Amino acid sequence: MAASPEEKPFHLQGNFAPVPEEMTEENLEVIGAIPPELSGLYVRNGSNPATGESEHWFLGNGMVHGVRLDGGKASWYRNRYVQSLMLTDPDAKRISDKGEMDYRVSAANTHVLKHGGKLLALEEGSFPYELTDELETVGAFNYGGKLNTSFTAHPHICPVTGEMIGFGYGQLPPYLTYHRISPDGKLVQSEVIDVPGPTMMHDFSISEKHALFMDLPVVFDMQAALAGTMPFKWSDDYGARIGIMPRTGGNADVKWFEIDPCYVFHTVNAWDEGNKVVFDVCRISEVWRDAGDMGGGNGKQTLHRFTFDLDTGNVGEQTLDERGMDFPRVADARVGLKNRYAYTLQFGELGSFAGHLKFDLQTGKSELHAYPEGASPAEAVFVAAPGADADSDEGWVMNYVYDDGSGKSELVILDAQNFSGDPVARVKLPQRVPFGFHGSWAGDA
Ligand SMILES: [Fe+2]
Repeated sequence: MAASPEEKPFHLQGNFAPVPEEMTEENLEVIGAIPPELSGLYVRNGSNPATGESEHWFLGNGMVHGVRLDGGKASWYRNRYVQSLMLTDPDAKRISDKGEMDYRVSAANTHVLKHGGKLLALEEGSFPYELTDELETVGAFNYGGKLNTSFTAHPHICPVTGEMIGFGYGQLPPYLTYHRISPDGKLVQSEVIDVPGPTMMHDFSISEKHALFMDLPVVFDMQAALAGTMPFKWSDDYGARIGIMPRTGGNADVKWFEIDPCYVFHTVNAWDEGNKVVFDVCRISEVWRDAGDMGGGNGKQTLHRFTFDLDTGNVGEQTLDERGMDFPRVADARVGLKNRYAYTLQFGELGSFAGHLKFDLQTGKSELHAYPEGASPAEAVFVAAPGADADSDEGWVMNYVYDDGSGKSELVILDAQNFSGDPVARVKLPQRVPFGFHGSWAGDA
């Protein structure tokens, strides 16, 4: 007998459930006024299992949802599957019977961003997938054959040099490989970095001078993998370290700092201060002890600051805010540089999102943007106003908000300087956008 809707896991219920159709709609209805300075594409990726079923929220096929804005108009909405080998060839395997990896087999569901003139859908176990600006799939992209590992869904683009800095991790040695990509999209450096085991490294960070690796105790678990479930679990034995390496350095240059065991899905930002590195993250004290589901956590993700002294080896740790939150973002122009402002998604009860938080890390103040009853927000992306000072909050915060009442979603645009006020624009979409993961603003300028 088929499972009743109540028996389905959370990631197949409500607005976590996939949408069945790819749609295109032009000249969308807008409530309010889209700032005419906004010309570009807002695009976000997420899990949308094509069969309607998946073992875990993280494992469904990637579907990107985009809205194109032009001079005050919302020109179109499109949602498209990323046509990765996992979707198009049911027989494709990530690991062949000979034990060889095929990095073209990808859920391609975690992030989407533009670098080196290419729009890339990313998922950490695989190669990037290149998309067109109309969200059609070009194909797996391995930097002309130079990329020989998986590639993270969370590379970071340096606003000073234009480089994209990333890494790949795997379940077999080498467990971690660092990658540096030039502004024009060429892979110019790859370095194997020694870590003791197959840690799940979902994100990392850069400062202007350094790359920061998180070697944390969520580790590949073969039994869970063979059972076909989320193949990572908490380990009491693994330890927890942050590695800091000059961005053009290699394994021998990494300074490792022991920290209290914890897990970090997402980093806020990092920056250099003299010979110290400040590193802000959303930290959870433990996750996935018994099972790799989202209910397997212990405690909540809070805003946390590490300070690493490269001379003495000392580590400072400080909780900046105790509310449960994740999906942190800073202005693209402040990545790797000291940021005054940060934006996060505040959690409600399990499986719900309460609102957006804006932090002023200079004054220590924060503001909440609460959404109306029945409206559920997602990751907030900050888009700077043209010509604004790089470290200001002059700009907009945009995200897809799902409305329980209509069963559809809107692209909601907030004025970041009037954060708790009403949105400046709400773009009506023809369907709901399932709760997903990460996205970007790809401006025309
Ligand atoms: Fe992520």
